[in-house]
Amino acid sequence: MGILSRPKTFFSSMTDSTSPRETITQLRREIERHNHLYYVEAKPELTDFDFDRLLEQLIALERQFPELLLPDSPSQRVGGSITKAFPPVQHREPMLSLSNTYSTLEVEEFVNRVKKLLLLEGVEEQEMVAELKFDGVAISLLYRDGILVRGATRGDGRQGDDITANLRTIPTIPLRLNALAESGEGEVEVRGEVFMRKEDFERINENRPEEDRFANPRNATAGSLKLQDSAEVARRRMCFVAYYLKGLHDESTAHLRRLALLSQLGFFTGDHYRLCPGVPEINDFIARWSEERWKLPYETDGVVLKLNDVVCWQKLGATAKSPRWAIAYKYPAQQARTVLHNVIFQVGRLGTITPVAELEPVLIAGSTVSRSTLHNFDEIERLGLMLHDRVIIEKSGEVIPKVVRTIPEERPADAEPILPPSSCPSCQTPLVRPENEVSYSCPNEEECPAQIKGRVLHFASRNAMDIQTLGDALVEQLVAKGLIKGPADLYFLQEEELATLDRMGKKSAQNILGALEKSREKSYERLLYALGIRHVGRATARELSQACPSIDTLQQATEEQLATVPDIGPVVARSIIDYFSRGSWPSLLAKLRSAGLPLSASEPKEQVNKNFEGLTVLFTGALAHYDRQQAAELVMERGGRVVGSVSKKTGMVVAGSDAGSKLQKALKLGVRVVTEDEFESML
Ligand code: IVH
Repeated sequence: MGILSRPKTFFSSMTDSTSPRETITQLRREIERHNHLYYVEAKPELTDFDFDRLLEQLIALERQFPELLLPDSPSQRVGGSITKAFPPVQHREPMLSLSNTYSTLEVEEFVNRVKKLLLLEGVEEQEMVAELKFDGVAISLLYRDGILVRGATRGDGRQGDDITANLRTIPTIPLRLNALAESGEGEVEVRGEVFMRKEDFERINENRPEEDRFANPRNATAGSLKLQDSAEVARRRMCFVAYYLKGLHDESTAHLRRLALLSQLGFFTGDHYRLCPGVPEINDFIARWSEERWKLPYETDGVVLKLNDVVCWQKLGATAKSPRWAIAYKYPAQQARTVLHNVIFQVGRLGTITPVAELEPVLIAGSTVSRSTLHNFDEIERLGLMLHDRVIIEKSGEVIPKVVRTIPEERPADAEPILPPSSCPSCQTPLVRPENEVSYSCPNEEECPAQIKGRVLHFASRNAMDIQTLGDALVEQLVAKGLIKGPADLYFLQEEELATLDRMGKKSAQNILGALEKSREKSYERLLYALGIRHVGRATARELSQACPSIDTLQQATEEQLATVPDIGPVVARSIIDYFSRGSWPSLLAKLRSAGLPLSASEPKEQVNKNFEGLTVLFTGALAHYDRQQAAELVMERGGRVVGSVSKKTGMVVAGSDAGSKLQKALKLGVRVVTEDEFESML
C-alpha cells in the first residue's frame, strides 16, 4: 500500500522525479486494486474515506492534465456523461438464451441427451458445471488490447444497444484487463449478467415515489441500465457477474478453467459454481441452493448447467434460441394457500385508491404475510377474485408476495363479489376513474384527510425532509383536528396547539417544533422531492435542482424545457407542469416561503452538528436503514472517521444484524458497541 504511506506524495513528487503520466497510471492501478479488493474479494484494505481521497487525487490530476484522461480511468466510474440515445450494435456472435425447466427429471433427461449425442461423436466422459442463475440483465463486453471499448445489451440476440457509458460505472466491470493490455491480446468478449443486490434494490425503491417503485431487482436493473445520466447509474451501484469468455489466445477448452481465467482477469464469477461429474452431484447442488439462496445478498432464481468441455459446445450446436449444451433449472416460486378475509381501500397521497387484501396470516419464504396489494380493480377482475375465496399467494422475484390465483373449486358459499367503493373511504367524495387509468381516484385533492396525511408523511419521510418525530399517529391527529391542511402548515404550529393532542407533553411538543426548525436547513433538492410531485423521486429531484436552481425558474419552465433535462420524459414533464398549474400552488408557495424553507440551490446546504468529531467508527453486520456508504457519509459529515478493522483505538462499533468476528473482537477489547437504533439517535 505504498501510495497511502506517502502522504501528499503526488503533487510534491511530480515536480522531482515522477511524471504526471506515471503518477496518474500508478493512482489508477491502486484505485482499481482497491476496487477489486472491495467489490470482488470483499476484503477491503482501505476505508471508504481513504478510497475517496485517492479518487479525488486522480480526478484533480486529470483535470490538470486533461490530455492524460483515458476511458479506462477509474475516474470514469463516477459517471457524468449524458447519453441521449443508445445506438444499436451487432453482436459478434448471437447472444443466445437458455432453455428453462422447473423439473429435476428434465435436468436428468438433458444430461442423458447430451451424453447420447456426444457418444455418437465418440466422446465418452462428460462433466457438467453447475452455476447459480443470476436474476438480472445479460450484457456483452468487448475489450480491445485489454481496454473496455464497448458494452451492449442482448437486445434481440443479434443486435443490442450500446450502453458503454452506463456500464463503465459498475465497479465490478474492469475497465482495463492489465494482463491483456500488456500482452496486446486483440479482441476479447466477456458476457455475463448485471444484477442488483437486494440491499441496493431496497435503498433505490425507498428513494422513489410509491407510484413508481420497481417490482423486483431485475426490473430495477433493466431500468437503471437505460438511464441517460450515467452519474445516476453510478448511484444505483449495480454488480456484474461474468460467465463467458471468448477470444483469448491461450484459451482453455474447459469452461471451469475459463471461469478461473475470468476471475484472474479481475471479474466476479459468482462464488458458488462447482464441477458435477454426474446427476447426483447436480441434484445435490440444486437441493442445497434451494434453501441457502435466501441467505445470499442477491437474488438467484435457479441453477445453470453447462457442459464443461467447450470443444463439445461446437459439436452439439444450438437451436434457434438456445444452445444444446446448457440448461437452466428454475426454482419453483414459493407458494402458499390462504384465505382472503377482506379487501380494504387505501387512499394514497395522490388520491389513488389501492385495494389491499387482508389475508389469513401464512408463512412464505421465511416471513409471515397477512396483507398484499391487489394493485387495482383490473387486477381483481383478472384474478376473478371474490371475498372469502381460498387463494394462492406467491413470492418469486418480488419482495412482497402477491395473490396469483383463486381456487374456484373451493369457493365457499358465503363468497361475495368485490365491488369498487363509490365514494372515498376517507372523505366520502364520489370517486372518479380518469380515462386511460387503471385506478379509481379521489378528486378531493385539497381536503381529503387521507391525501393530506399521505402528503405530510411523504414530506417528513427520511429521504425527504427527514422529520423523524412526525409519525403516523401524530399526523393522523393533526389532520383530524384540522390543525394542518398540508405540509407547509407544519411550520406554523404553536406549542399550545400541539399540547392539545393525545399523549403530548410539553417536552414532546418542543421536540417536534425543534425537529421542524432543523428541517428548514435541508437542501432545495430534498424539498423538491418532499413536495410529492407525481413521478418525481430523489433522482429526478436532483436533476431538476441542477437544471432549475430555484423554485421560481422551475415553476416557469415549459414542458419542452423540462423534457431536455436528463431522464425526464414527457410524462414526468407533464406531471411537473400540472403540479405548478394547480390553483392551490401560489398559496402553498407563499407558505413555504414564509416558513423559510430552501427554495433555491444557493441557500445554505444542510447544516449538521459535529458531534462525531474525533471519533473512529466501525460498521459491522447488515444495517437495516442505511448501506455502508450512506452510514459512512453520515459519520464523516459529523466530523468522525470510518475504519475497516477493530483495534483498541476504535471509538465505537455499530453492530447490525448478523455481526460476526469484528463484533466479537470489539467486545473482547472492550470497545463501545452500539445498535443501529442507538447510532441513529446519536445522529
Ligand atoms: S449462460 C448461451 N449462466 O439467464 C448461454 N446465463 O434464462 C448464455 N443467466 O440468457 C447464458 N445466470 O441472461 C448463463 N450463470 C449463468 C446465468 C445466466 C443468469 C441469464 C442469462 C440467460 C438467461 C437464461
